[in-house]
Amino acid sequence: MFSVTPFDQLAPPSHDEQSRQQFVSQLRKFVMADMSGEMRTAYVRDVEAPFEQRQGRKPRDGREVRRLMLDHPYFKAWSALRYSAQEMTWWSVMPQVERHLPELIGAARKEAEADGPGSLRLDPDLGIPRDVSALDIHLMPGCFHSEHAAGDVAQGAVYTLGTAVFGGALKLRSERKGGVGASIAHWLRLTRPDFRPRKLLDLGCTTGSNLFPYLAVYPGLVGHGVDVGAPLLRYAHARARSEGLDVHFSQQNAESMDFADGTFDVVCSSFFLHEQPVKSTRKILREAWRVLKPGGVMVHMELPPASEADAYYNFYLDWDAFYNNEPHYAAFRALDFPQEVARAGFEPGKYFHTRIPNWGTLREKEFEDCVLGRREAPAHGNGASWFIFGAWK
Ligand SMILES: C[S@@+](CC[C@H](N)C(=O)[O-])C[C@H]1O[C@@H](n2cnc3c(N)ncnc32)[C@H](O)[C@@H]1O
Repeated sequence: MFSVTPFDQLAPPSHDEQSRQQFVSQLRKFVMADMSGEMRTAYVRDVEAPFEQRQGRKPRDGREVRRLMLDHPYFKAWSALRYSAQEMTWWSVMPQVERHLPELIGAARKEAEADGPGSLRLDPDLGIPRDVSALDIHLMPGCFHSEHAAGDVAQGAVYTLGTAVFGGALKLRSERKGGVGASIAHWLRLTRPDFRPRKLLDLGCTTGSNLFPYLAVYPGLVGHGVDVGAPLLRYAHARARSEGLDVHFSQQNAESMDFADGTFDVVCSSFFLHEQPVKSTRKILREAWRVLKPGGVMVHMELPPASEADAYYNFYLDWDAFYNNEPHYAAFRALDFPQEVARAGFEPGKYFHTRIPNWGTLREKEFEDCVLGRREAPAHGNGASWFIFGAWK
């Protein structure tokens, strides 16, 4: 899911740190793949079947499943381990980042002072939204915005290296790099071969992992990324530079940006909207519509809405809302996506949503067959496929 840039390699782990990270990756895989499968079996056997016998129906929705599962020993064990693995993910990279921090800050500063490609524009006066500053989202200590030194990049490094540990063992074998950005870019290339985007904007870009792949699929494309976290953007900019990519990062709130109307051919995001309160999501969708050119596309990778999942999967997906400091997750998934997109200004007939396989998991021909509707994409879960929604303007 994650491609290592030369900049990330400035902070190599020690032998012991690397083996700890491998352990955490394997623990995550054990919890998310092996244990999750067994928990579903336990649910059907111990909870759903007796419930159906008593009530003459299956549990109605994710909330009902959750009420029934809360006391199940398998859920308790799974949940506790998942929580611990989440914390351990960040802890496993923090010593490495702390040790290399002076070099990382120095190298990022040098990149920021050098001439293009790309640029970095920070705004020290930008207020950090409470939904970022008041809690450690994903249990990552310091969240996305904290700064511990002048020119700090620590949160960018912890997020980038930590997410590599996070999904490390779940990656499926492939020669090609996968991930959300690559998957959407190839979906776009295959489904709209005549579409030639020149300018793309990624909202809540963090350190650019899901922005950079678009530039590989569309040579000449100029990337823009906005985020509220300065340490992320410094790190993202240095990563882009180390790859020679033309990406312009700016510290802005996606609810209200300084780009002119109709600037971009593509406005995208990944893993972003579910961290917003509903009122912010609405402002962000409206702002995406404003900065998009007529004929352009808005596309967001997100967790599937509640309406696209069964009761058990809704219970399963909403875990993060209760235990991973993502309090808006369930309210976001309960939204009517087509209605929200129409409310933002898009014509209702221009809405789409679909599930696309992870680029890099399937063979190229299989990926193509899925996105062109000749075969079904793999079921959602553990990065095998992505749910995307959006609209053409
Ligand atoms: C989970 S991360 C997104 C991950 C990233 N898109 C990726 O694929 O690697 C959410 C990001 O949104 C940023 N963010 C939160 N609220 C924001 C806002 N109102 N405007 C811009 N960025 C925001 C956070 O700082 C964080 O970097």
